[in-house]
Amino acid sequence: MTTSDFRPLDAMEDDRDAALARAAAAGRLDEDFLERFDAHFPRLHSLFTRLYGDRPDGQEQLAQVVAAASASWKSRPLDLKVRDRQRASDPDWFQSERMLGGVCYVDRFGGNLDGIREQIPYFRELGLTYLHLMPLFDSPDGENDGGYAVSSYRRVNPSLGTMAQLADLAAELRLAGISLVLDFIFNHTSNQHEWAQKALAGDPEFEDFYLIFPDRTMPDAFERTTREIFPDDHPGSFVPLDDGRWVWATFYRYQWDLNYANPAVFRAMAGEMLFLANQGVEVLRMDAVAFIWKQLGTSCESLPEAHLLLQAFNAVLAMAAPGMVFKSEAIVHPDEVASYISPEECRLSYNPLQMALTWEALATRDGRLLQQALERRHALPAGTAWVNYVRSHDDIGWTFADEDAAEFGIDGYRHRQFLNRFYTGKHEGTFARGVAFQENPATGDARVTGTTASLAGIEAGDEAGEDRVVLAHAIALSTGGVPLLYLGDEVAQLNDYSYADDPDRRGDSRWVHRGNRARDQYARRGDLATPAGRVFHRLTKLISVRQSTPEFAGNALTSFRTSHHSVVGYQRVSGDAVVLVLANVADAEVQIDPLTLSGFDRAARDLVLGADVDLAEGIVLRPHGFVWVRVTPL
Ligand code: GLC
Repeated sequence: MTTSDFRPLDAMEDDRDAALARAAAAGRLDEDFLERFDAHFPRLHSLFTRLYGDRPDGQEQLAQVVAAASASWKSRPLDLKVRDRQRASDPDWFQSERMLGGVCYVDRFGGNLDGIREQIPYFRELGLTYLHLMPLFDSPDGENDGGYAVSSYRRVNPSLGTMAQLADLAAELRLAGISLVLDFIFNHTSNQHEWAQKALAGDPEFEDFYLIFPDRTMPDAFERTTREIFPDDHPGSFVPLDDGRWVWATFYRYQWDLNYANPAVFRAMAGEMLFLANQGVEVLRMDAVAFIWKQLGTSCESLPEAHLLLQAFNAVLAMAAPGMVFKSEAIVHPDEVASYISPEECRLSYNPLQMALTWEALATRDGRLLQQALERRHALPAGTAWVNYVRSHDDIGWTFADEDAAEFGIDGYRHRQFLNRFYTGKHEGTFARGVAFQENPATGDARVTGTTASLAGIEAGDEAGEDRVVLAHAIALSTGGVPLLYLGDEVAQLNDYSYADDPDRRGDSRWVHRGNRARDQYARRGDLATPAGRVFHRLTKLISVRQSTPEFAGNALTSFRTSHHSVVGYQRVSGDAVVLVLANVADAEVQIDPLTLSGFDRAARDLVLGADVDLAEGIVLRPHGFVWVRVTPL
């Protein structure tokens, strides 16, 4: 077909017929598929029209997307179709109190995919129902941003295994009650990706897959309004090519941003997404969602088209892999984070605000910002949920809203500076041992890296370190949605400074919290004489209580204020039953007086201790202590 055969998007009916004809030419159309096509094509068409209405190739690319979706459904393995049906009858499956996520690097935690398979008994012991394997795709040797520079979405990095092994692992995990979660790194590819190589060689089809400019004119114009994301690596948003051209690279210089203004890019990436769906991935972590659309004169973050693109990917999914769910990774202002969460975009989202404010509260011994966030920013649309975590493979960015902090007289900029100093060990009396990440002298901005145990004080020998680790998890495990463990944290894994000796890693301090599986600590997890054993014992207790407490299902939460600034309080409700959570971030004991609790019947039950409590006597919260109590409202 030549370009002259292309025509722009037109009336829905015509485009629908053209798309169906395209799909039918590739093979008989499946009844199930047709049903879902009818339900979702109008939405996809309308999104395509808004995104690509003025492109001559809009209609052709849309037809190709539909053809790919039809073919993908046809080749979707039967067990996955069965899973699709289960999900359709229980679309809120991820809201269950039984949900527990874990995340790890394949090489660091298991050596390779086989090694991960061998860990399945451990994952079951822990109670995982969701396993996020960090990027395991083919990527350049040496620097590759921990696998976030993808050279092929269809090939597993040979040092880890093969795609067939991955599909087998997904099936095995499913049998063990664990859903496989993988990244969809769709904002950029590695510069070694076949598309990038063709673009570099001057193939015009693939040059249009990226944002490549002949000189600095456009880069300069864009950079007037964009932010620097990885300033340690390169200033601005562009990097030079050897031939003098400039290519858009938001993150590392070897990660080239895709040009979604070209519908062929959407079509190509939808194909990669469907391929992954058919390997048995159940949740796709949508990497760097805020950056996928660029527009001159804007910040090029979270533009309306970024949402349209997610909705369009979602519509394709609904046609061809309906059981799969998107999780948003947007580490930005809380309003923007929330904007990606809906059944039409991402049903799941990291909760970076709660994560950051948990650490903020531990540093300040003041829970008010966290309490305010729970009151103001926790509620979500029906059918969606947070992924609540304490640490991840990434840095901690202090993404609270300045306007929220200002209500307590806190200056956002100065507070972030304090938190950075505190968590990088520069503040006097700090318990934290973290490392700065992407310090930007021009803006004074920085983020923090380090493992939970090191940041919470265990590395520094602070006697409250273990309590802080448990307290932070007690919050993440009880605020709803999917709690996500950064594996290693459950055995109090400490920072690993050896990255500084590795030339491929020393430029990225996030490696400090990406150590190899802490074999010794895992071996000692039953030994209560060790920090690993004590933390493991206490966290697994919390996990088992969470998993047998129906009030912890779902996402809804009601604030419960006390008169203590150091106490964060909320209620989780299921029918008539209520669990009250009170968490004390202070170094001192706090007494919650009987009057504060007088809205409840005096007979209550401490779920963690498994003991009755008399609320008429009040509740004593130890320093860095918390309670999960089942109460009866009067
Ligand atoms: C996401 C990942 C991060 C990576 C970046 C670029 O933010 O979590 O680790 O560096 O995307 O892919």
